[in-house]
Amino acid sequence: MSPTRVLCRVEDIPDSGALAVRIDSATGGFEIILLRQGDRVFGYHNECPHQGRNLDYVPGKFLIRNGSIICAAHGATFAVASGDCLAGPCRSGLLRVPLQVEDGEVRAP
Ligand code: FES
Repeated sequence: MSPTRVLCRVEDIPDSGALAVRIDSATGGFEIILLRQGDRVFGYHNECPHQGRNLDYVPGKFLIRNGSIICAAHGATFAVASGDCLAGPCRSGLLRVPLQVEDGEVRAP
């Protein structure tokens, strides 16, 4: 079993909201969005498939409404639970980051 890293605790993410977390890597790292719906947490790269921009309107602040996250650049809308493109200029969904929730901690490989 591969080691995991603890990203945060579930309660660090506002319910029906999001938290941006930076993942360091040998190639410079990247940012992911953690989205929470009750006990469930979903992770995606903070990169819109439309033009590759970050989804937040200011660092760490996201437009989330009725189970969707909306890219601040041109309004592409994605389902929080699946990352699927629902509306706007996107042709594909968000890139998912696999997560584990265990003992109240959100972990990633
Ligand atoms: S970059 Fe996200 S909608 Fe255009």
